[in-house]
Amino acid sequence: MQKKFGKPANYPRLKGLNKKYPQITVVQRKSTDKGPSFGEQFHTDSSYTKKPPRYTMLLSKLVPKKGVANTDFSSQYLAYEKLSKNYKNKLKKLKGIYSSHGPISITTVEREKEKGKISKELISRHKIIRTIKNKKTIYCSPGHFLKFNTHMTKQKKELKKFLFNHQTKKTFQYSLEWEKDQLTIWDNRAMLHQATPFKGNRILHRITIL
Ligand SMILES: [Fe+2]
Repeated sequence: MQKKFGKPANYPRLKGLNKKYPQITVVQRKSTDKGPSFGEQFHTDSSYTKKPPRYTMLLSKLVPKKGVANTDFSSQYLAYEKLSKNYKNKLKKLKGIYSSHGPISITTVEREKEKGKISKELISRHKIIRTIKNKKTIYCSPGHFLKFNTHMTKQKKELKKFLFNHQTKKTFQYSLEWEKDQLTIWDNRAMLHQATPFKGNRILHRITIL
């Protein structure tokens, strides 16, 4: 795999599967779990790291009935293409600042607080508009977003609201219905994803690739 796609990344926030495969992260939901599932808001994986992984792979080991626990994707190539010239210009000057304790992690951080063991906050900044092989895309992870790298004036707050709404328009989305032993890989730089809320048992194995 190393030769074909790149180097598997170490995920800073969860323990690996075992000693042999430390870079496989187990994403598990139990039917007894309360609160939101892991990843239940649109995001790109590890945007709070200096060099976020290019690709994410998920392999389904245990899934509920088809259509119950989907993963939604939103194409950010398409989202960029559909931006007006005015917004393209506004956004190209900006960077986003992302945190591992961002909005998507609130429940995790709360649980950590209860245990008295809060993980170290990781923060990184990245350009909102980036180019991948000559194609422009929006790179902004709402689940980890703290602010733009500029004073958050009223206009900037409105711009943020517009951007988040625009990025996740239904017309840019695809909803994946999991089946058992299904492998999914996507470009983490040009695609947002989120887990849909559900009650039940699910086990996914994840590898992110630098
Ligand atoms: Fe994710």
